[in-house]
Amino acid sequence: KNIIPSATAQTVAAATRSGDSKAKIGTYENLDGYLAAEGYQAFHALMSGVLTRKDVFRELEVSGLRGLGGAGFPVAQKWRFLDGQTKPRVVAVNADEGEPGTFKDRHLLETQPHRVLEGALIAAFSIEADDVYIYLRDEYPHIHTILSTEIEQLMRRALTHGIRLHLRRGAGAYVCGEESAMLESLEGKRGLPRNRPPFPAQAGLFGRPTLVNNVETLYWVTDILNTGGADFLARGRRHFYSVSGRVKTPGVKLAPAGVTVRQLIDDYAGGMSEGHVLKGYLPGGASGGLLPASLADVPLDFGTLEPYGCFVGSSAVVVLSDHDDVPNLVRDLMDFLAHESCGQCTPCRSGIPKLQSFLDDPHAHRDIIEELSQVMRDGSICGLGQAAPNPVISALRHFSDDFKPKDRA
Ligand code: NAI
Ligand code: SF4
Repeated sequence: KNIIPSATAQTVAAATRSGDSKAKIGTYENLDGYLAAEGYQAFHALMSGVLTRKDVFRELEVSGLRGLGGAGFPVAQKWRFLDGQTKPRVVAVNADEGEPGTFKDRHLLETQPHRVLEGALIAAFSIEADDVYIYLRDEYPHIHTILSTEIEQLMRRALTHGIRLHLRRGAGAYVCGEESAMLESLEGKRGLPRNRPPFPAQAGLFGRPTLVNNVETLYWVTDILNTGGADFLARGRRHFYSVSGRVKTPGVKLAPAGVTVRQLIDDYAGGMSEGHVLKGYLPGGASGGLLPASLADVPLDFGTLEPYGCFVGSSAVVVLSDHDDVPNLVRDLMDFLAHESCGQCTPCRSGIPKLQSFLDDPHAHRDIIEELSQVMRDGSICGLGQAAPNPVISALRHFSDDFKPKDRA
């Protein structure tokens, strides 16, 4: 169940928590290793005509694969948006995972980079793009080294069949993980999210129709092309969860979509840390809200948490215990979002500080908090501002008593 040894998992989690920018390059599957394990077979099958673009779309459709950057958009449908768009077209790989508590893409790139690269090449061939841009978060310099080395090998051996792979560094801004801000940043501009529409599929990088996919999504594309969409479906939808916080063995866990936090803790993460009792959890990092221990058996999947005012996003599960202080955590999360807001639209730029100002006595400001949050959801340009009220609203809903009496003197 747990595909990486717990020692590795702990190293990954610990390094991520400490923002370790000096992470060492560990053992990973290099080009020779990947080829020996029959890597690039699916891409080769496409290039040699054994598989067609039509086959790719059909297999993706059958698999039901959904985007794993957080939004869960159906992948086949997203790729089809490129049909009939002008050329040249581009693929942009979003490797800027900045959601606090998310480190699954890092794990995939630092262990199986070619599986992701093959997915990107399959995507490029399928949507008839000549260029793939990989936008890698700058906090992962060791992965930059891995990718530059492996891309050079691929190009030198002409294994990309003319598709150009470009590796670009982010610069530490959370908002640049938002797809349109990422495109701006790739163009060398400040990472300000664009109004959508037009969506990247219509006008993306340098104005070209662009397919944006997350690292883990492309990882599974390769798997689906190798074994077939029906097989992927039959094995049951699975994906990687980043589990951290008050558990014995934090790390990246491969688990079925819809696993519960109780199962993640007990069956995948070695149980709660010694002396800690489950108090609640963040199901989707900073923006996905907070849930209480009483909701530890709710399936974690796209759409299952909305009734509780939360979402699973990129599956960054942070486990909280009786040692954690919810009002302080909410303050920290709001500080983070305030710091990372790009400031270009008023509901987000002014709304977050306004929400922060209510945190000393949120109960007294309940109505205005609700109203302001709705304005932020409706009026913010991008997901950062739209989701920013989630920590406050969900904490008030599920941890109401924690805000008093200490925070309500
Ligand atoms: P979205 O639902 O607006 O869009 C999803 C994707 O579908 C996008 O690529 C969009 O271009 C495409 N799309 C949607 N409608 C379309 C249409 N009519 N035509 C063409 N393309 C269309 O979600 P968004 O804003 O891209 O992502 C939000 C999610 O990102 C959140 O749920 C959050 O969990 C996640 N997130 C992930 C982070 C990470 O580190 N992995 C960081 C922050 C947020
Ligand atoms: Fe910038 Fe916030 Fe507006 Fe997004 S919602 S564009 S981060 S100000």
